[in-house]
Amino acid sequence: MLLRTETNKSLRPEDIVAQTSVMMIGGEDTTAYTLAWALFELAKNSKLQDALRGEIHERPRTSRGDVAYDSMPLLNATIKETLRMYPVRPWTYRVATKDTFIPLSESIISTTGQRLNQIQVKKGQLVTLGFASYQKLESRWGEDSGQFKPDRWIENRVPQSDAIGPYANLLAFSGGSHACVGWRLAVLEMQVILSELIDKFTFSLPAEESIEPRYMTNLMPTNSDGQKRAAFCVQRV
Ligand code: HEM
Repeated sequence: MLLRTETNKSLRPEDIVAQTSVMMIGGEDTTAYTLAWALFELAKNSKLQDALRGEIHERPRTSRGDVAYDSMPLLNATIKETLRMYPVRPWTYRVATKDTFIPLSESIISTTGQRLNQIQVKKGQLVTLGFASYQKLESRWGEDSGQFKPDRWIENRVPQSDAIGPYANLLAFSGGSHACVGWRLAVLEMQVILSELIDKFTFSLPAEESIEPRYMTNLMPTNSDGQKRAAFCVQRV
């Protein structure tokens, strides 16, 4: 098999090796954990799971006969809500390359009681960007921002004015010039895998196990002993 780039040049073996390691490191656990969180929320809510299964059974098709995953509102709303509630990379950091100010969309009160509309940053200073905090801000996402509600995407109760990240105005894939390069692949993988799983199986939570979010290198599902694990009761439909 000969792989070609968009400009129709063939990829050299070393390019394929480099791209493969990027996909393995950046693109495997991230997508797998996001899927595990989606299944966790669906396992907790059988009504939502049944509604999604109903949508999947109807499977809209494109004119070429392929499954039109982008035309499945509840499937996409579930994926967006999972990325909002469980961003596998909950934060990142950047280093300021010059003295500057970060403008704030909402003013804050400093520890000395001063109201601030911007934050001064010195060259070389580390700036932490809290993706997870942004995605649960009540002023942006509403009073129910701490709850898993895919309907907010279908009812358009989500901030839309500023395209802050590459997908759904979320920061789960970061933003700017170093946003996730694999986000389209990740969304497609999640659309396909979630559809296949929910189509064929029902998921529920075992009584004796818990699933809790824990930040290690990613926001991963763990059991109550802190072991990396997401246990489900699975039955064929
Ligand atoms: C649900 C799945 C995924 C999530 C939530 C996710 C999230 C992210 C985030 C937050 C960043 C920025 C990290 C930072 O700047 O500190 C990032 C970068 C990156 N991601 Fe993803 N990612 C996902 C899937 C993928 C896939 C499938 C691939 C490749 C096939 C991929 C490849 C990359 C690469 C190469 C970067 C570095 C981009 C750069 O620095 O310019 N990711 N991802």
